[in-house]
Amino acid sequence: MVKIEIVPARKSDAIDVFRLQKEFDAYLQSLTTKKRKNYAQKRQKAFMRYGFGKKRLFYTLIAKKGGVPVGYLCYHFGYDPDEMLGPVIHVVDLFVSSYARGQGVGKLLMKRAADICKKKGGFAVYFCVWDKNKSAIKFYKKLGAAFDKGAPFMHWFIA
Ligand SMILES: CC(C)(COP(=O)(O)OP(=O)(O)OC[C@H]1O[C@@H](n2cnc3c(N)ncnc32)[C@H](O)[C@@H]1OP(=O)(O)O)[C@@H](O)C(=O)NCCC(=O)NCCS
Repeated sequence: MVKIEIVPARKSDAIDVFRLQKEFDAYLQSLTTKKRKNYAQKRQKAFMRYGFGKKRLFYTLIAKKGGVPVGYLCYHFGYDPDEMLGPVIHVVDLFVSSYARGQGVGKLLMKRAADICKKKGGFAVYFCVWDKNKSAIKFYKKLGAAFDKGAPFMHWFIA
C-alpha cells in the first residue's frame, strides 16, 4: 500500500497548494450555477505573506501519497471563552484531490489538526462548511462533527 504522510508545509510546497486550490475552486464552482469570483492571484500573495511571512497568521499541513501532494489543510489557533474555556483550532481550508478521495486522506488531515490542538491543551476543531457542499457535510458528520445551530457564523467586511 502507498504510504500517506501528513507534513507541515514549507514555502517550497506553496506551488503544490496553489495547484490544489485551483482544483478546489473548480470543485466549488461545480456546486453552483452562479459564477464564482476568481481571486487566485490575490489569494496566492496573501498565502505567502500570512502563511510563511514574518506576520504569520496560519499554518498549512500537506498530505503526501507516495511523496506526491494530494491534499492540504490550513488552520490557525484560537480561543473559546465559552463552554470548556480553552484553545481551539480553526480549520479554514481543506481539500483532497478527487483521485485521492475515499482513502482516508481527509480524515488524516483533520486528525492531525486535532492532535496539534490537543497538544496546546485544546478541545475542539472549528470550521465552516458551505450548505451546498453536501459531500463535505457527510464527511464531517462521519468524523463526529455537528452543526452549532444556535450560533450561525457571521462576518463583517471592514475593508
Ligand atoms: C471532504 C474531503 C476533504 C474528504 O476527504 P477524503 O479523503 O475523501 O475523506 P476520507 O477518505 O478521509 O473519509 C473519511 C470518512 O468519511 C467518509 N466520507 C468521506 N466523504 C464522504 C461522503 N461524500 N459521503 C459519505 N461519507 C464520506 C468516508 O467513507 C470515511 O469513512 P470511514 O472513516 O468510515 O472510513 C474531500 O472529499 C474533498 O476534498 N472534497 C472537496 C473539497 C471540500 O469539500 N472541502 C471541504 C470544504 S469545507
